[in-house]
Amino acid sequence: MSESALFRDVVRNRHSVRSFLPAPVADAVIRSVLEEAQLAPSNCNTQPWQVHIVSGAKLDVLSRRILADEEAGRHTPDFSFGTYPGVYGQRLKAQGAAYYQAIGVSREATEDRRTASLYNLKFFGAPHVALLFMPAVGDNVRVAGDVGMYGQTFLLSLTAHGLGGIPQTMLGYYADTIRGLLGIEPSMKMLFGISFGHPDKTSAANRYRIGKASIEENVIFHS
Ligand SMILES: Cc1cc2nc3c(=O)[nH]c(=O)nc-3n(C[C@H](O)[C@H](O)[C@H](O)COP(=O)(O)O)c2cc1C
Repeated sequence: MSESALFRDVVRNRHSVRSFLPAPVADAVIRSVLEEAQLAPSNCNTQPWQVHIVSGAKLDVLSRRILADEEAGRHTPDFSFGTYPGVYGQRLKAQGAAYYQAIGVSREATEDRRTASLYNLKFFGAPHVALLFMPAVGDNVRVAGDVGMYGQTFLLSLTAHGLGGIPQTMLGYYADTIRGLLGIEPSMKMLFGISFGHPDKTSAANRYRIGKASIEENVIFHS
């Protein structure tokens, strides 16, 4: 198989996994994914990511603490989510609708929707989460871009290893609790997390694929 065919398979097979098997990933495989993610590009090679891998009993404690935060309405995000205008807002809504339809939750079933949303805080059943922190620099845009590069490299490496992951901005809503539990410096800001593990391929949550815009919607050619 040519190199580009391998790349095409990995990039096309990657998708957001929202249901995992409980079996942990071998330490050596996690290290291999981390080695590959470490090759991500960054502004002036600054590599401004600090990654916390949480597994086992610590992951259970983390889940309980952030669920308690959610219950109490205690949100401490380092970065606001904002409101997406126009077509971006439309895509956001379409994504939510497609997911809930795939898992059989109707628009009216508000309690079921909340339960499904709270599954974020149980890491979708994954045995591991990578929490991506960054130093605050200027208006944070450059560093956040670098951490995004890291995140995608991490996700593609997971896919290449037959694993799956889900990036989660939602985990960042509990940044203070996460910093407190893991002893992370207040100067390190949380951008998002990636729950990861072996995908449960039988789950309806993993059997649907969200559509993507055509090149024409995002690319303008100039000559
Ligand atoms: C930075 C980032 C944060 C995200 N946060 C969440 C999240 O909190 N919860 C969730 O269910 N999906 C989250 N997603 C997944 C997106 O919904 C998903 O990437 C998008 O719908 C495209 O689907 P695909 O990943 O299968 O291509 C996030 C994705 C990214 C890139």
